[in-house]
Amino acid sequence: MNDRIQQLDQHYSGGLHVAELIQTIEQQLPGLQPAEAFAAIDQLHLGGRGATLQLLKQVNPSQDDRYLDIGCGLGGSARLIAEQYSTEVVGIDLTAAYCQLAEFINKKLQHPLTVSILQGDITELPFTDNHFSGVLSQHCLMNLPNVDKVLSELHRTLEIEGKLLLHEIVTTDAAYTAGIAAPIRYPVPWASDPGHSFLQTESDLKKKLLANGFQIHVWEDETKKAVQWRQRTGTGQPRSLLSPTMVLGSDFKTMSENLFFNLQQGSVKVIAAIAVKI
Ligand SMILES: C[S@@+](CC[C@H](N)C(=O)[O-])C[C@H]1O[C@@H](n2cnc3c(N)ncnc32)[C@H](O)[C@@H]1O
Repeated sequence: MNDRIQQLDQHYSGGLHVAELIQTIEQQLPGLQPAEAFAAIDQLHLGGRGATLQLLKQVNPSQDDRYLDIGCGLGGSARLIAEQYSTEVVGIDLTAAYCQLAEFINKKLQHPLTVSILQGDITELPFTDNHFSGVLSQHCLMNLPNVDKVLSELHRTLEIEGKLLLHEIVTTDAAYTAGIAAPIRYPVPWASDPGHSFLQTESDLKKKLLANGFQIHVWEDETKKAVQWRQRTGTGQPRSLLSPTMVLGSDFKTMSENLFFNLQQGSVKVIAAIAVKI
């Protein structure tokens, strides 16, 4: 494990005890459960299940499709795609503890889903060319120092006209670089400090998509909705016996408040986009 990967692992799972969390889940949610029951811990992104559904609706995956969820975390969105569209989904994530929990949740489902979880690095995808009809990248790219490498792997593994769904946090080009927006406050849910955050500016991300063989079909600013969702739901998560602090540790409250501050100050924004492999 190189230093960067070790730090990423520490950020995401340093405060996490998988066996304890599994025990808590078994106590709070005994027996088999609907996939939705885990939303408080398996939707580690702004807007929860609603934001993912809104993006999926625009592409309507079918049961003949094969989807990949990169940086799938605990696999919440991978399960959501399979649940709503009967699509076969693979979730891939580097954090071993998250993969273990994702597999545990898969086994707790009332209605089994065609979701498999793989521990691995998305900069080197273990799949053949043209394998997937769609890829979801949700609050993931800001952990990647080399987004070009990831995009070229996604392009390779997507079939022609395959869809890349992006739900990502980016920096606001002009405001941030001109010093109009406040500097980004850390820690945030994806990084403990600026050294581990690799936010793209919006225009750079667009340029990199085009340079790696994608056409951009949809590009929407979801910042306002994300802020409203956060205001409506308090910590930003559904009422539940479970909580994201059980995954991200006691710092989650500060991370979540800082992200809310950064969104309101305009130093980061949320985009939802659909790019197509040409
Ligand atoms: C903010 S979390 C989002 C998780 C999930 N997409 C969600 O929305 O619930 C980002 C995830 O990306 C994963 N990740 C970061 N870099 C990765 C890499 N190079 N390969 C695979 N996964 C990675 C982290 O382990 C983490 O689970």
